[in-house]
Amino acid sequence: MTASASSGAGPVTIVAIGAGNRTNKYLEYAVRHPERLKLVGVVELNPLRRRTVAEKFGLGAAQCFENYDRFFENPVPADAVLIATPENMHFEPCMKAIEAGYNVLLEKPIAQTLPECVRIAEAARRKGVIVGVCHVLRYHPYFIKIKEIVDSGELGEIISISHIASVGLDRTTHGFVRGMWRKEEVTNPMLISKCCHDIDFLLWLTEARCRKLSSFGSLRWYRRENAPAGSTERCIDCPVEKECPYSAVDLYYNRRDWISNFDVPEGSTLDEVLLRELRTGSYGRCVFRCDNDVVDHQIVSMEMDNEITISFSMDTFTLGDQRETHIRLTRGEIDGDERTLRVRRFRGGEERIFDFSDILGTPFHAGADLNLIEDFVDTLSRREHRFRTSIDRSVESHRICYEAERSRLTGRTVILGERSDPE
Ligand SMILES: NC(=O)c1ccc[n+]([C@@H]2O[C@H](COP(=O)([O-])OP(=O)(O)OC[C@H]3O[C@@H](n4cnc5c(N)ncnc54)[C@H](O)[C@@H]3O)[C@@H](O)[C@H]2O)c1
Repeated sequence: MTASASSGAGPVTIVAIGAGNRTNKYLEYAVRHPERLKLVGVVELNPLRRRTVAEKFGLGAAQCFENYDRFFENPVPADAVLIATPENMHFEPCMKAIEAGYNVLLEKPIAQTLPECVRIAEAARRKGVIVGVCHVLRYHPYFIKIKEIVDSGELGEIISISHIASVGLDRTTHGFVRGMWRKEEVTNPMLISKCCHDIDFLLWLTEARCRKLSSFGSLRWYRRENAPAGSTERCIDCPVEKECPYSAVDLYYNRRDWISNFDVPEGSTLDEVLLRELRTGSYGRCVFRCDNDVVDHQIVSMEMDNEITISFSMDTFTLGDQRETHIRLTRGEIDGDERTLRVRRFRGGEERIFDFSDILGTPFHAGADLNLIEDFVDTLSRREHRFRTSIDRSVESHRICYEAERSRLTGRTVILGERSDPE
């Protein structure tokens, strides 16, 4: 057995597999609370990222690994592993970690198919380890407030919900047209990659299971035939770049947005890295000439087993990247857009407005990333503490996404049927 159970005396020990954007966010907790969480190993393909984390946390050569196969051949004892590799590399390291007896903090989505998700949940149950999926909305003050109001019962019971996930143009062109999540077979259908959080939130809110769903959507716009006349393969030498809202030159070079995944090696400047990417990298390509196939808009209609109806829309042609939710209950309404939350009773009581504008867009998903890892640390170090969600609930939200995808592709309503609850 390679993993060791936390004694409760010292900090919880963790090995990070994948040391990119997400891992660095979660590891901030170890920086702020070294007495609670200690990084004892890093597994990362990119030598620059591996070295940066190793230096920051004082790791020796025996604690650093180039890939997870090497790590599982010579594992470092720890209470848990954090898996924050790209989503086509979740299933394998997660199964290996479970088999080796580690608890796992797993970035979403769980895996790439529903059977893989189910196998992870089954393996975790069999080995008696915790697999916590990083559903950050459950730790975000705005979404927690919605949940609190609904759970208080002051507005009665939920009848219906409309929920919109606006992905935003820049995030879409960066991630889902040019970037990591552009191809279904490499990562996942977009609803799973981007919106398993939203479905998890809706399940959390309604405490229900989905009975029936149907879904529509397509890749309507980012296709070769929609390229403007005169445009070229790369934005950097495109004659229509100046008027193009999807320009990579404007996004990365002029505005310096979405550049955190461009590593700047020693001896290079950010300008050089960006210009090289624009000339030769995948992020410099014209959005109409990429090898993307994920949808750019999708809607899902759901009927839950307690008769709540939900309409969910994932929209990418938006300036902002906020979520909007409107909940209609038997005694009032709640609606919000992450900036403000409005609560109205049908009779008696005045309108209440909760203002979240001061935390909007603040680091670490408004602190949710740090709250999430703290919950995981508490789960491993305090016997009575339970992680806010279970792997079985996460599989349930993923199941809805995969079934929605089936409905979108077949044009049929999907009946999810009765299933026994493993919890
Ligand atoms: N919970 C959230 O809100 C949220 C937000 C963004 C991304 N994510 C998820 O987090 C995961 C990571 O995303 P990210 O933005 O941190 O990506 P990233 O590209 O910044 O980091 C991933 C890292 O994994 C490394 N890697 C790849 N293959 C490896 C292997 N075989 N062994 C070791 N290291 C390997 C890469 O070199 C990279 O440094 C993805 O699954 C993504 O969907 C979750």
